[in-house]
Amino acid sequence: MMDGSLNVTVIGGGLIGASWAALFLAHGHKVCVHDVAPDVGVRVRKELHRILPTMQELGLWLDPESLALTFDANLVSAVRNADVVQECGPERLGFKQALWASIEGSCRAGALLLSSSSGITASMQARKMKTPHRMLVGHPFNPPHLIPLVEVVPGRKTSPESARRARDFYVALGKRAVVLNKEIPGFVANRIQAAVIRESVSLVRQGVVSLEDLDVAVQSSLGLRWATGGPFLSAHLGGGAGGVKGFFKQFAGGLQLLWLHMRLRPVLLTSRTQASLIDGVGLAYGGRSIDEWASVRDGQQVAILQALAAAEAGEEANG
Ligand SMILES: NC(=O)c1ccc[n+]([C@@H]2O[C@H](COP(=O)([O-])OP(=O)(O)OC[C@H]3O[C@@H](n4cnc5c(N)ncnc54)[C@H](O)[C@@H]3O)[C@@H](O)[C@H]2O)c1
Repeated sequence: MMDGSLNVTVIGGGLIGASWAALFLAHGHKVCVHDVAPDVGVRVRKELHRILPTMQELGLWLDPESLALTFDANLVSAVRNADVVQECGPERLGFKQALWASIEGSCRAGALLLSSSSGITASMQARKMKTPHRMLVGHPFNPPHLIPLVEVVPGRKTSPESARRARDFYVALGKRAVVLNKEIPGFVANRIQAAVIRESVSLVRQGVVSLEDLDVAVQSSLGLRWATGGPFLSAHLGGGAGGVKGFFKQFAGGLQLLWLHMRLRPVLLTSRTQASLIDGVGLAYGGRSIDEWASVRDGQQVAILQALAAAEAGEEANG
């Protein structure tokens, strides 16, 4: 169990490290930041001051005058008392492999070793470790102090116990922790994002739409839609009374043609694939009727639209 105030060592006090530090501190953990940059203390404190009003708005008190925050340029002493290490260093395989191999002997036996990597799997990172069972990926979305998702991605040698502890640690921080069943470079959210960015760049490069209008198009459609339900729930609500079955009936052929046009390796929407996805949607969302889900979605989308309008009005009033 990892209850109460923990010693968390953040390795790398850049964009992600400072944001994680704010969240850890706001939840009462003691944070030690290790970084090789001499100005890390100034940078992290400045970022904490910037984040402070947001955390207070969320009801998480963060008093900059009495933060349980230390800095240690010595890697060995920085990790010695850590219950959790959250690595936020450069996204380079060589750096991460060398780091884990060099600190595992200095950490407590029960310390949980977590990497914020955006796409390098734990199996690759832990290749030179003697204790890979306690190392795994805890991938946040920027900024970790705000965006709920953390992808918990165990490596081939990560123990189920470490994966469970990592999930519990993030859930206690108020995160939505999704544990992946299988490792894959880029994990889930970044692979989906990569597909969207690929097509965005392609559309702008082809001159189909301006860069600004592409952003408007995404923000005003998929952004809002996906804030209230992912692709599968959205498909269920996009198929009329027939739900996801109706969606495939109406759109499967068109989707296959579009994927070909976009030169993407096609994922065949065979009747077997469709049947298995329809079953999956039934299991995930069958507890409510389509009408009920549509009302939930509408209520949430209205709340988001109103919140955005209020925030915009506030920005205008503040000049
Ligand atoms: N930027 C994002 O949107 C994002 C989102 C999720 C995850 N991540 C992941 O988080 C990690 C950090 O990304 P970032 O955007 O914060 O990068 P960043 O460049 O802002 O920060 C990296 C920090 O690591 C420090 N550093 C460099 N060498 C070091 C060493 N040998 N030992 C200790 N510290 C060292 C740097 O001084 C810097 O402060 C990466 O693995 C990245 O893939 C990034």
